[in-house]
Amino acid sequence: MLILLLSMIAKFMITVVAQDCNPVDFGRGSIVCECNSTYCDYYVDPQPLSPGEFIWYVTSKSGKRLSQSNGKISKEFIEGSSTVHIDSDNEYQTIEGFGGAFTDAATMNIKKLSQGSQDNLLRSYFGTNGSKYNFGRVPIGGSDFSVRAYTYDNISNDIDLQHFTLAPEDLLYKIPVMSKALELNPSLRFVSAAWTAPPWMKNRHQYYGYSYLLEKYYQTFANYIIRFLELYKQKGLDIWAVSTGNEPFTSLVPTAKVSSMFWSARTVSKWVVKNLGPTLQKSRSNSTYILMLDDQRIHLPWYLLDVKFFHKEALNYIKGIAVHWYTDSFSLPSILDVTHRIAPDKFILMTEACVGDRPWERPKVSLGSWSRAERLIQKIFENINHWVVGWIDWNIALDVNGGPNWVENYVDASIIVVPEKDIFYKQPLYYVMTHFSKFVPRSSIKIEAKTTDSNILVTAFKSPDNQTVVLLYNKSNKQRSVSVVDKNVGSINVVLLEYSLHTILYKTV
Ligand SMILES: *[C@@H]1O[C@H](CO)[C@@H](O)[C@H](O)[C@H]1NC(C)=O
Ligand SMILES: *[C@@H]1O[C@H](CO)[C@@H](O)[C@H](O)[C@H]1NC(C)=O
Ligand SMILES: *[C@@H]1O[C@H](CO)[C@@H](O)[C@H](O)[C@H]1NC(C)=O
Ligand SMILES: *[C@@H]1O[C@H](CO)[C@@H](O)[C@H](O)[C@H]1NC(C)=O
Ligand SMILES: *[C@@H]1O[C@H](CO)[C@@H](O)[C@H](O)[C@H]1NC(C)=O
Ligand SMILES: *[C@@H]1O[C@H](CO)[C@@H](O)[C@H](O)[C@H]1NC(C)=O
Repeated sequence: MLILLLSMIAKFMITVVAQDCNPVDFGRGSIVCECNSTYCDYYVDPQPLSPGEFIWYVTSKSGKRLSQSNGKISKEFIEGSSTVHIDSDNEYQTIEGFGGAFTDAATMNIKKLSQGSQDNLLRSYFGTNGSKYNFGRVPIGGSDFSVRAYTYDNISNDIDLQHFTLAPEDLLYKIPVMSKALELNPSLRFVSAAWTAPPWMKNRHQYYGYSYLLEKYYQTFANYIIRFLELYKQKGLDIWAVSTGNEPFTSLVPTAKVSSMFWSARTVSKWVVKNLGPTLQKSRSNSTYILMLDDQRIHLPWYLLDVKFFHKEALNYIKGIAVHWYTDSFSLPSILDVTHRIAPDKFILMTEACVGDRPWERPKVSLGSWSRAERLIQKIFENINHWVVGWIDWNIALDVNGGPNWVENYVDASIIVVPEKDIFYKQPLYYVMTHFSKFVPRSSIKIEAKTTDSNILVTAFKSPDNQTVVLLYNKSNKQRSVSVVDKNVGSINVVLLEYSLHTILYKTV
């Protein structure tokens, strides 16, 4: 009777503090959570922790979504079948944040929903009871995730940019959605990048294919970027950082029909030193940072070394190195360690990552796929454990085909919208991002976390409000008991379900 009563109380408490996932199973390994204009799953912040207590969130292949429980830290060390050691005195990089991209496709998809569903979607990402995303990426002009190719100035030889105008995509979709997101989270930062200069500024007047910026337009293109920053600023959207251009190496791939423009380390560093850097510094957007590369880590560290070699002064203007994850399986994460050693003052930020990107991945959108969630989990752990300071997902919302995309380069996304039904699905990917974004606030410091069990992934942080945040993933197909041992605090003993992701919080001593 007492047990029954207690279990009722426990149930009651859970319904008060959180709104549960409404699960739908499409038979792809795990579930999605369905939201509409009046219902969506939300996760309220935990009560402040007292010493000796921990809070534990679990998302699993079997269907748990940020399911919360509390426990007591044991003072004595209890041997589990695996041990994880946390050492908060051993500090690494400072975390900048987590987020996703406001592409034309994503914001057009969002705007197809009713106001109620739009609110639930944006609150899911940016709200206090949602993922607390604090990064957004926005293309300067069109990307492949647009319904057409365009830039902001299509008039040949318009060197004074008299015909520069923002596009309907900015005014009707990106800016309104970004503004709403910023309202939900005032500490949201935007990073941006142009996929290409206007074709008339390039050697070949095309959006994609091998092309580069003509030197006679170096200053014009710097002005073009700054015009964008200033017009967005006028709309209340300060851009925190702009990269030197999205994926310059895509321009060298003959089959890639993605708008692009090639920069070698030599040309880009020259452009930064002579044009972009000084012009930005003199502009009203002088607080916007410049990021370099914005492409696969396989180009590191030599791209950085070449920048150093050709125009070292460019590094005075460059704040960080932006990387994408698409070739991570062909390049060792130690590349990031080497890069960090060469330029310890430049942070490394993941600015684009999505699943469903590989040609053989079908369908492009796989509703409820756990194997895709697992790929994301492994790569976030890997990158964060090699100096990466944050992770920006690609499109924040796609349709069930993984678009729209004017060159049919469809991919998967954390949220999939179904405008005909005025609903959206939160994929397992959404919860993977949330396990980080919600519990690892900006300015957290990555600390040492180690295990000898090769079936467990681990990473850990110290947050600015003095909490230790430990993330674990059990990548084996069996459950296991684990002791998380923090020499300053004690030992936390948990059982990890097969294929489950965990965030554990406790007060740092
Ligand atoms: C939204 O979903 C909830 C939960 O499934 C359901 O009760 C409600 O009727 C739905 N609302 C609309 C407008 O369809
Ligand atoms: C978060 O959820 C709690 C509980 O439902 C609610 O009281 C609070 O207003 C929500 N906060 C926001 C910002 O929506
Ligand atoms: C830009 O100009 C080119 C060449 O004049 C034209 O073919 C193209 O349709 C224009 N694009 C846009 C978006 O106006
Ligand atoms: C940036 O520009 C503002 C004026 O817009 C100026 O007050 C400030 O000193 C500038 N900062 C730097 C670092 O140049
Ligand atoms: C965190 O701990 C440090 C060092 O003990 C202390 O100075 C700081 O005030 C604490 N911050 C918070 C938010 O409690
Ligand atoms: C992960 O789950 C599997 C399957 O239940 C189990 O055998 C294994 O011990 C678990 N690993 C950990 C670290 O909990």
